[in-house]
Amino acid sequence: MNIMIIGSGGREAAIAKKVSESPLVDDLYALPGNPGMLSYATTIAINVMDFDSILAFAKDYLIDFAIVAPDDPLVGGLVDLLEDNGVKCFGPNKRAAIIEGSKSFSKKLMKDYNIPTADYEEFVDSEAALKYAKTSKYPLVIKADGLALGKGVSIVNDFEEAKATIISFLDEHKFKHSSDKIIIEEFLEGPEISLLTFTDGKILIPMISSMDHKRIGDGDVGPNTGGMGAIAPNPYYTPLVEVECIRKILYPTIFAMKKENRVFKGCLYFGLMLTKEGAKVIEYNCRFGDPETQVVLPLLKSDLVEIMIATRDEKLSALVVKWSKDFAATVVLASKGYPLSSTKGLPISLKKLDSSSTLYTAGVKMSDAGILETNGGRVLSVTSTASSLKKAIKLAYKNIDKCVDFSEKVYRKDIGKTALNCKKN
Ligand code: AMP
Ligand code: GLY
Repeated sequence: MNIMIIGSGGREAAIAKKVSESPLVDDLYALPGNPGMLSYATTIAINVMDFDSILAFAKDYLIDFAIVAPDDPLVGGLVDLLEDNGVKCFGPNKRAAIIEGSKSFSKKLMKDYNIPTADYEEFVDSEAALKYAKTSKYPLVIKADGLALGKGVSIVNDFEEAKATIISFLDEHKFKHSSDKIIIEEFLEGPEISLLTFTDGKILIPMISSMDHKRIGDGDVGPNTGGMGAIAPNPYYTPLVEVECIRKILYPTIFAMKKENRVFKGCLYFGLMLTKEGAKVIEYNCRFGDPETQVVLPLLKSDLVEIMIATRDEKLSALVVKWSKDFAATVVLASKGYPLSSTKGLPISLKKLDSSSTLYTAGVKMSDAGILETNGGRVLSVTSTASSLKKAIKLAYKNIDKCVDFSEKVYRKDIGKTALNCKKN
């Protein structure tokens, strides 16, 4: 089969590596991909939002199957366009991708179908939002309705902070139309769990649980980023929690989507928080998470292409998906200034990693002289697997120290610390 993957980050690199291991694959393309992916895929310089060029490429190169990984093209309807033109896809259509594309939609879905989540109110008018914020309990969480590059969530500690956020979102249109509407919700506390699942709309196969590290600084301080590292499995996702989530959250969500005539097929990501009252949904994503994918897929023992085709063809119930019993840790190396800015064009020096470790490139480019250079915020990640979480974390850091370097690299030194300290270990 000829397969194309849409996207260019570390997540897409991890998907491309796993896909390339499938005996079903003849040619593999990444649009646009990044030069670090060249050992698994041919990269084609087409932007993920250039739908016409993507379709034309699929036709010209006889693509049998497309994997649409990022949120923007999913929410924008790329799967609909490709499927309507005879290209089979892994990923939800536009009607289903709204579960990530609109928080107003997903919060109402949860409310209507009794899926546990933070209490909330929705506003389009700053005056009403300010009136509500004046009498609220703090901290309070303010979210832009639409996609905002992972930056649309503000946790505010008092009315003054709430006021500034409400005005910047609703009146100053900080995220353009994505913040025409806002959600104000109660602040929840507890450990977070990322749970990626395969679903064909009928059944759902959870992947190995994981834990992201969203803040830039050690000890979870500083601004939120796209994710600075991850570990899997997540020790807080015990068998008891799993049973509760399957019954109260996972299946109710896919049934709710079906009921709404928005059957979801693809990877449905559940961002969960384990509160004193039980697991609650913090957010849904309509796609694989980044950097969660870089720890989850290396633990997959089954054929990813086979699973993705079964997901698309609504035949997941016929599959048994197997996972390694190992543990994985990934550490993201970012460039100076991230997440506010990024330093580009710095040469990256690389040595061969050990056999339990993999380098996944993201914000990189090849210079005219053929040298790999930094080209964005999150530059690359190193994933290691081992028979214990402690060993996996140690290996990832050892490989970073010995094998990967670029000037002013920024990375967290405490990835996995919360998981190691979890009493459930
Ligand atoms: P999101 O972009 O929706 O994943 O939110 C980013 C981060 O904000 C989450 O991973 C949480 O750490 C935090 N967050 C979002 N919603 C809440 C909430 N209701 N209570 C506490 N923290 C939250
Ligand atoms: N790591 C969180 C996300 O992909 O949205």
